[in-house]
Amino acid sequence: MPDRTLNIGLLGLGTVGASVVRVLRRNRDEIDRRVGCRLELRAAAVRDLTKPRDADLSGIELTDNPQELAERPELDIIIELLGGVELPRACIERALAAGKHVITANKALLAEHGNALFEDARHRGLMIAFEAAVAGGIPIIKVLREGCAANRIHSIRGIVNGTSNYILSRLSHTDDDFACALEAAQAQGFAEADPTLDLDGTDAAHKLALLAAIAFGSPVEFSGIYREGITDLTPEDMRFAAELGYRIKHLAIAKRREDGVELRVHPTLIAEQQLLASVEDQHNAVLVQADALGDSLYYGPGAGGEPTASAVLADLIDVARASAVAPEHRVPPLAFRPDHLTALPLLPIEETRAAYYLKLTVEDRVGALADITRLFAEYELSIDSMLQKGGHPETEAEPMIVVIVTHLTTERNLMRAREAIGALPQVCGPVSVLRIEPI
Ligand code: HSE
Repeated sequence: MPDRTLNIGLLGLGTVGASVVRVLRRNRDEIDRRVGCRLELRAAAVRDLTKPRDADLSGIELTDNPQELAERPELDIIIELLGGVELPRACIERALAAGKHVITANKALLAEHGNALFEDARHRGLMIAFEAAVAGGIPIIKVLREGCAANRIHSIRGIVNGTSNYILSRLSHTDDDFACALEAAQAQGFAEADPTLDLDGTDAAHKLALLAAIAFGSPVEFSGIYREGITDLTPEDMRFAAELGYRIKHLAIAKRREDGVELRVHPTLIAEQQLLASVEDQHNAVLVQADALGDSLYYGPGAGGEPTASAVLADLIDVARASAVAPEHRVPPLAFRPDHLTALPLLPIEETRAAYYLKLTVEDRVGALADITRLFAEYELSIDSMLQKGGHPETEAEPMIVVIVTHLTTERNLMRAREAIGALPQVCGPVSVLRIEPI
């Protein structure tokens, strides 16, 4: 039997919090054998004291005051699973000030305030662990921070928002419309309390900010990340992409170049034979390209109660072990020694190099395409493939949809060409553009 006991306070008993309680109870013996000290959940803060919870709460005191719980003297570690930003931030600041280590799954909080919180923890000789903040149960933080520690990491490309991936899978493989697919994701508990954060790319950008910092050894940079969500995608785009040999995925991309880093989150076409292209439903996957290791792919459940609890409890075990170690000998939160973090220039989206998918609605008359392809030549855009749908050349009664896939170019050039093409009289409505990621 372990002779040391660490007392834990839990802030939040929602899907993930209740799963933390369940998994810790179920696997207690295995966990004790691994960690060498006893982990005791003493108290939990909830919003509604009367709400039934999907876990055995015996021996856990409930309170509706998370800030008071965060600084209780008898607790050694605080697990924050509240959601939102301001309340968790206040709780974590109090917990640190009261000398407690912190575990959090809160990607929004760390993306926006992580630099200050990590610094605060460091000055106090405390840890903030956050494996569950990125890609749910996949231990990607540990992979980048420890498994890849000898590498220069070139790039990360991840499907890191389960809700978006779930919706895109449903749009591709079922008759669901967008609203129906979102409702199903919400019912299964993947979506954020405010699902716009999933749909507009903000959640993925929060996660990318943390991954990029750890991969490149830079402070957390969130505000400059370019982001687009999935709300403009249609089942038709999914079909056209498939006909051209691609799948559309919502990717978070961090790439190191000679002149800086690209940090961007947007719907992306990926060649169908790439493993990332076959990641479906709420699953997440992260492809890491590193100089010594080469390409490695990490796949698994990116959301959901028990997978996320798995990551939270792995952090708890790490923090319990490392709490007995002098602070200077612990693994730094962002992988690199805090005084050796270096900000890298963030490249504007116009500097991105990619291939592109353009979708145009064009009046179907003789010579309509000739002006368009002439503009492609003028802007030195090389066409890789093309699809033409609908239209009635005899009657010219109905416009046609034309999809053009380019070879690699810069976004700046592509956007100039798009403006010129959109101004042609035979082109009706906006020209929609998606990036194609060469992997
Ligand atoms: N809303 C998030 C997602 C939950 O859908 O991936 C996990 O961070």
